[in-house]
Amino acid sequence: MARPKKKLYIRTFGCQMNVADSELMAQVLGEEYELTAHAEEADLYLINTCAIRRKAEEKVKSLLGSLKFLKQQRPQLLLGVGGCVAQQEGERLLAAAPHLNLVFGTKGIYHLPELVGRIARGERVVDVGLNRDCPELPRRAWLPGTFQTMVTIMRGCDNFCTFCVVPYVRGREASREPDAIIAEVADFLAAGGQEVTLLGQNVNSYGRGLAETITFTQLLRRLNGLPGLSRLRFATSHPRDLSPELIDAFGELDALCEHLHLPVQSGTDRILKRMNRGYTHEHYLEKVAALRRACPGIALSTDLIVGFPGESEADFVQTLDLMRAAGFDQSFSFKYSPRPQTRAATYPDQVAEEVKAERLARLQALQDELTLKSHARLVGQEHEVLVEGFSKRSIEELCGRLRTNQVVNFSGPRELVGSLTRVVITEAHPHSLKGRRVQGLDHLVSVGRSA
Ligand code: SAH
Ligand code: SF4
Ligand code: F3S
Repeated sequence: MARPKKKLYIRTFGCQMNVADSELMAQVLGEEYELTAHAEEADLYLINTCAIRRKAEEKVKSLLGSLKFLKQQRPQLLLGVGGCVAQQEGERLLAAAPHLNLVFGTKGIYHLPELVGRIARGERVVDVGLNRDCPELPRRAWLPGTFQTMVTIMRGCDNFCTFCVVPYVRGREASREPDAIIAEVADFLAAGGQEVTLLGQNVNSYGRGLAETITFTQLLRRLNGLPGLSRLRFATSHPRDLSPELIDAFGELDALCEHLHLPVQSGTDRILKRMNRGYTHEHYLEKVAALRRACPGIALSTDLIVGFPGESEADFVQTLDLMRAAGFDQSFSFKYSPRPQTRAATYPDQVAEEVKAERLARLQALQDELTLKSHARLVGQEHEVLVEGFSKRSIEELCGRLRTNQVVNFSGPRELVGSLTRVVITEAHPHSLKGRRVQGLDHLVSVGRSA
């Protein structure tokens, strides 16, 4: 009889790349460990960390502190910290937390079985090498009923935006071979998958350094041709490298969803220059206009930083102007947070915390207005929805996403979870939509664009 597997609990912080990496961790450890949702029964507890802002790093450190008690109750528990804070802090984490067994960096996932073997034998281990390669892992398997997945297509970042820690904690850019990506997506579709999100810090530069000459748009075209793929998304795209061919792809590829996350960070040329972003206010809006010409229904989301060093009130107002001009459907906004090793952290003209807080509140109030307007425009329209689960309020109600990424709640049978249906939007709310399912037509609509 097979030996029962030990229990693995993973707590994930940070971006989608970390969510995908946690899945890989479970996969590479799969021979010996199975995932549990209950931390108290774990034999191995891994924290996958994020270092993007100071707050993210502090959360990890406070969780690590609180795990002392769990370790006292279960002395045999093995505890590991991986991801971006682990990469940044390395040895220091192990020194600060005597109850910690393992620190592994963002490339350490590949060596996890060996590292865990060593800590099980009583060693305390640090592995924060940042070698360039990203070897292929064993083929992924999806739990039955999985209809959405993320596929990492590249790792690292070479852009060195002056505020950002990612190039230091994720290392140099490296793309996966296209055939490996296509095989993974094909496997997922064969297992009943519907929606794939391709991940990389800067997907537009996908392909650099590969033996085969391939651009990101060519990769999208190859994936679009796979039978059974209903929805294709990707994140994140850098505005400087958004090519005309990629813009055109939004109007051409059936599976490619009509939504783009295009982080602008600031609306002022002077600040964009100091951020090393490589585009201007005007360039950004030109790309937005080209996207809307190629794909009139496209939804746009962005990331914004307020209070970057040297940002004046006039600079900030230009950011608000750009938000209005671009008409963002959604945005994620942050107070600038100085990060270790980054250039902007050394700039002398840091902005006061109260000023950052005040600007963030104003920016978010404007985004709420823009989001509500964008939601209101959808009322009365019929859209394709991928049913993702149940609404937050009630399991009587289903919840799904439009191709343009907005969340919609509507009544319908629970059997629809994981499939496509059509919904007429009836109400616009600040964070979601309400809709009514179009009855009787579901059998006719399995794939198709609606925007
Ligand atoms: N690769 C993506 C960004 C990944 S980080 C891109 O280039 O767009 C996600 C977001 O965190 C960034 O877009 C930025 O808005 C925010 N961010 C990164 N570093 C930050 C910092 N030091 N302070 C505040 N926000 C930051
Ligand atoms: Fe960070 Fe810039 Fe790279 Fe994005 S592109 S991960 S913001 S350095
Ligand atoms: Fe955070 Fe690392 Fe992602 S710093 S945002 S988890 S790449």
